[in-house]
Amino acid sequence: MAERDWAVSYDHAAFSGRIHTAYKHKILRKYLHPWMVILRSTSPTIAYVDCYAGPGIYPDGTEGSPLIALQIADDVMSKYGCRIWCIFNDRDERVMEQLRNSLRDRYECEQVLVFSSQTDARDCVDQILNDERFASNGRLSVPMFFFIDPFGLNVPMQMLKRIMEQPKTEILVTFMVKDVVRWGETHAYEQTMKELFDHPSPLDLIEQADGRDFEQQAINAFVGRLHTHAGVKHVIKYRVFNEQERRTLFYLVHGSNHFKGFKLMKDIMYKIGLLGAFAYLGPDHPDEAQTFLVPSFGDPELEQLKRLLVEKYPGMSTSFGIILEDMYAEVPFIEKHFRAALLGLEEDGKVEIFGFRRRKGTLKKGHGVNFL
Ligand SMILES: C[S@@+](CC[C@H](N)C(=O)[O-])C[C@H]1O[C@@H](n2cnc3c(N)ncnc32)[C@H](O)[C@@H]1O
Repeated sequence: MAERDWAVSYDHAAFSGRIHTAYKHKILRKYLHPWMVILRSTSPTIAYVDCYAGPGIYPDGTEGSPLIALQIADDVMSKYGCRIWCIFNDRDERVMEQLRNSLRDRYECEQVLVFSSQTDARDCVDQILNDERFASNGRLSVPMFFFIDPFGLNVPMQMLKRIMEQPKTEILVTFMVKDVVRWGETHAYEQTMKELFDHPSPLDLIEQADGRDFEQQAINAFVGRLHTHAGVKHVIKYRVFNEQERRTLFYLVHGSNHFKGFKLMKDIMYKIGLLGAFAYLGPDHPDEAQTFLVPSFGDPELEQLKRLLVEKYPGMSTSFGIILEDMYAEVPFIEKHFRAALLGLEEDGKVEIFGFRRRKGTLKKGHGVNFL
């Protein structure tokens, strides 16, 4: 059976202004700004790459990811005097034409690089790796953030691997799990699925993954492949959920090889989650998929985290920074919760906290923690 052409099937008019598009953009906006500010201090030039850029402005006037990224880059460049490339690619010729028009109206600056139309995302990645402005001998010299937003299943794992093998790269992927579920039922789009997981029989992979239903198994298998196959150290996934219909719209999956990036994304997702649109899916909590609010942090959660800490480090000596790195991916809590739990344990006489000129009631990443 011929594979569905996801690019042609995407309807920009239908998706503009929709709530899930708005949340996707909110996350992008909130993350990209600190990412650019932090990374520009490590390199005079950095880059944002929108491999599946879309038209820039939607028919109802809503701004798409290219314009959002450009505004942020503009702001950071004018404040910090750095150089930020914004690279836009879309394989649909009509969309590229619309994007050029959107950019022409709003921006005229030399930092913007629009890759020629009808380039598949993977060719765009190859072009970047062969472009001496950004790379030498196939190795990137510029930190890059890749937004992978096809709104379909055109996300080859090989491409993600190629990106994440490079130094200082990050990815934010929209993973259309419902399309994978449909494939599980119909067995169409075989080739696309093989590329998505970079595996000759992805169904085997999904059936081996943890989780009770096919949807959970599919997202767990994808995240698992990012870790084991693409070598991504830190992956965080959030389910974007339609509350009324009680169904998953898609997952946002962030991959980074640096704890700082991972923590920043988790903190942002957590804050947005408190507004009620995202579910946190901790690796040990497959059932959390049924909830759509990030757990509150009252007394029971504080006690739960205190118990987890004591169980994890019996009689051990470590530091607050290491505890965060060890446990941030494991539980649906953020730094302030860890701080509260450890200070609570100190009051209970179960840990000693020490550090140069430390004031009681404070806890910094460099402070040591002895579990008694
Ligand atoms: C969801 S839209 C992008 C929306 C945009 N990121 C935003 O947030 O405003 C997906 C775009 O990906 C393009 N696309 C789909 N498959 C592609 C591929 N293999 N390579 C490059 N572009 C592709 C489509 O033409 C479509 O314009």
